[in-house]
Amino acid sequence: MKILLTENQIQSKIKELAKSIDDFLIKNKRNENDIPVFISVLTGSIFFFSDLIKNIKSEIIVDYLKVSSYSGDTTTYNVKILKDIEIDIKDKIVFIVEDIVDTGLTLKKIIEFLKDREPRILKICSLLDKPSKRLVKVKVDYKGFEIPPEFVVGYGLDYNELYRNTPYIFIYEQQNE
Ligand code: IMP
Repeated sequence: MKILLTENQIQSKIKELAKSIDDFLIKNKRNENDIPVFISVLTGSIFFFSDLIKNIKSEIIVDYLKVSSYSGDTTTYNVKILKDIEIDIKDKIVFIVEDIVDTGLTLKKIIEFLKDREPRILKICSLLDKPSKRLVKVKVDYKGFEIPPEFVVGYGLDYNELYRNTPYIFIYEQQNE
């Protein structure tokens, strides 16, 4: 097991991200009723999402979107929305919070899906980015770390639903069975 990012590295990056997001929210908030919506993309972003929003000082509301596209460590290129958000995001500042952007296909589908609901501002925040694997162009507005094209697990990220529950991120090495 090779640790790629330690708990300390992750937590200090989250504090930086939360600070820049807070600065953005303060600048762009129109009035007291203009409460931004933070959307966690399930399941991979659970820990990142909760640590990030705990560090955000502005008033926000949260919602969840569940998508699926991976089987093992291979994308199926068929992104499905498994659970929709419940909050009306029309005219709102919306942050999509992802664990990782790889090919970009998942994010592209989510952006198209949510843009139809006419948010005023749609921003993307992802803990990890694998730019060398990108197949479609997507803009990650707030990113934690750029990582090499390896399959990583831990801190919410899984291989076949396993390995999510570690506070650090490590490189998954396929066993030869
Ligand atoms: P994309 O559609 O290829 O950009 O992949 C996005 C989704 O695939 C992420 O939200 C993850 O759920 C999953 N994914 C991509 N790369 C990895 C990885 O290295 N480890 C675990 N999950 C990954």
